[in-house]
Amino acid sequence: MPETSNFQIVKLQPERWQEFRALRLEALKLHPQTFVSLFEEEVEFSPSQWQDFLTQDKYEYLFVQDNRQNNLVGMGALVWHPGKKYTHMAELGSVFIKAEFRRQKAFTQLLHSLEEVGKKRGVEKLISYCGKRNIASVSAYLSNGFEIVGNLSKQMKNNGEYFDEYLLEKFL
Ligand SMILES: CC(C)(COP(=O)(O)OP(=O)(O)OC[C@H]1O[C@@H](n2cnc3c(N)ncnc32)[C@H](O)[C@@H]1OP(=O)(O)O)[C@@H](O)C(=O)NCCC(=O)NCCS
Repeated sequence: MPETSNFQIVKLQPERWQEFRALRLEALKLHPQTFVSLFEEEVEFSPSQWQDFLTQDKYEYLFVQDNRQNNLVGMGALVWHPGKKYTHMAELGSVFIKAEFRRQKAFTQLLHSLEEVGKKRGVEKLISYCGKRNIASVSAYLSNGFEIVGNLSKQMKNNGEYFDEYLLEKFL
């Protein structure tokens, strides 16, 4: 897989929050039906809110960096549910690879790193939600060991339009 050698998976120091912001806002703008949050909400976040995502214990954000230019081209996060009974599982979310870097195994590499970080923190299983119409995402999750365990009808409603989602899980 020669392409993957161009990517490095990195954790961002909070000083790099502006790069995180730019990538996340690009994701929200390009894919309004994919993410829970709205572009219009997050564009108003303060610097400290962005930094909190990078530093708080309940999140583990990792980024794909293109080694040729040292810029961020993708991201994803594990999010822990509150409560001691849920520390063995985390939700995979905020997954985004810039369009021109897709189908080069960036997501696959990112997921592997997130899983390793998760395992070190005691995670035994991941869950995630995917829009049923999001063929790329569903395919990428399935080809990386996730299984569909739920069909959620009308799970998202955006501008009056409903979207069905899958609930997926993967045991590590
Ligand atoms: C979904 C997404 C993260 C996949 O990232 P990626 O880096 O292109 O994925 P990978 O290169 O690691 O793909 C791994 C496998 O997933 C499947 N896959 C990925 N994209 C696919 C597509 N467009 N169509 C069909 N299968 C696809 C393939 O099996 C692929 O392996 P292959 O290229 O050897 O055939 C990317 O398309 C993306 O950012 N989409 C927009 C945001 C989004 O949907 N996020 C997920 C929210 S749930």
